[in-house]
Amino acid sequence: MIKLTGINKFFTSDVHAIRDLSLDIHSGETLVLLGSSGCGKTTLLKMINRIIEPSSGSILIEGKNILEQDPIEVRRSIGYVIQEIGLFPHMTVEDNVSVVLKLKGRTEEEQKKKASEVLELVGLDPEQFRTRYPDELSGGQQQRVGVARALAADPALLLMDEPFSAVDAVTRELLQQELLKLKKRLNKTVVFVTHDIFEAFTLADRIAIMHEGRLQQVGTKEEIISSPETEFVQELLMKPKKQLSAFQGLI
Ligand SMILES: Nc1ncnc2c1ncn2[C@@H]1O[C@H](COP(=O)(O)OP(=O)(O)OP(=O)(O)O)[C@@H](O)[C@H]1O
Ligand SMILES: [Mg+2]
Repeated sequence: MIKLTGINKFFTSDVHAIRDLSLDIHSGETLVLLGSSGCGKTTLLKMINRIIEPSSGSILIEGKNILEQDPIEVRRSIGYVIQEIGLFPHMTVEDNVSVVLKLKGRTEEEQKKKASEVLELVGLDPEQFRTRYPDELSGGQQQRVGVARALAADPALLLMDEPFSAVDAVTRELLQQELLKLKKRLNKTVVFVTHDIFEAFTLADRIAIMHEGRLQQVGTKEEIISSPETEFVQELLMKPKKQLSAFQGLI
């Protein structure tokens, strides 16, 4: 479990990006952080793998305070997928996927084997894609390589920051469905950031809604729809309520 307690983040004295936020993330669940642009989603996610340090508060992963651990070790033990994908352009797909394995000192043979395994997991034929470079792939394929890379070191925890927002709607839906399938096969905890309420409802076991640095509500889809706890959550649900009813039986 990940336990965030009393987190605050000031970037400057007047930018209070995260405000007294406490949140438990259960092992094996997909928790979606949902909120509009600038509400602090990326900041919160980056605190979980120590890219950003909180101004106050504590973060425990499986009972251990990560703020007392080596930040590089923490970062390497957690899978991270970002919107801009961040593949290394001068490296092949296989080398991109193997980056963390190499840093961890795995043999070339182990790296190759694992790269094939995770490429297959994300629906890319290793024989066909291993030696290609990122600019020889479509946006959706690059995103898959980004997910494969995050899975390569077999982390228990995967952080995903709007990973599918750069691709077209059809590809996005496909990638969402693939992530759901992956989740069934692999027992990972996933923290997924989005500002898209439909994406949140598609992927989440629980949704944590944020607004202006504050956690508004955390709960299952059913809980959030049946009893919105703040005005912001009510308003958020207002517009898409009709479309959300497509999620059978929820409203
Ligand atoms: N390095 C920084 N220095 C100063 N302010 C920052 C810094 N990084 C983020 N902020 C501010 O903190 C707030 C939260 O930013 P954050 O990137 O977490 O938002 P977000 O919810 O991820 O938004 P988006 O959906 O647009 O990605 C914003 O007001 C942003 O301007
Ligand atoms: Mg962001």
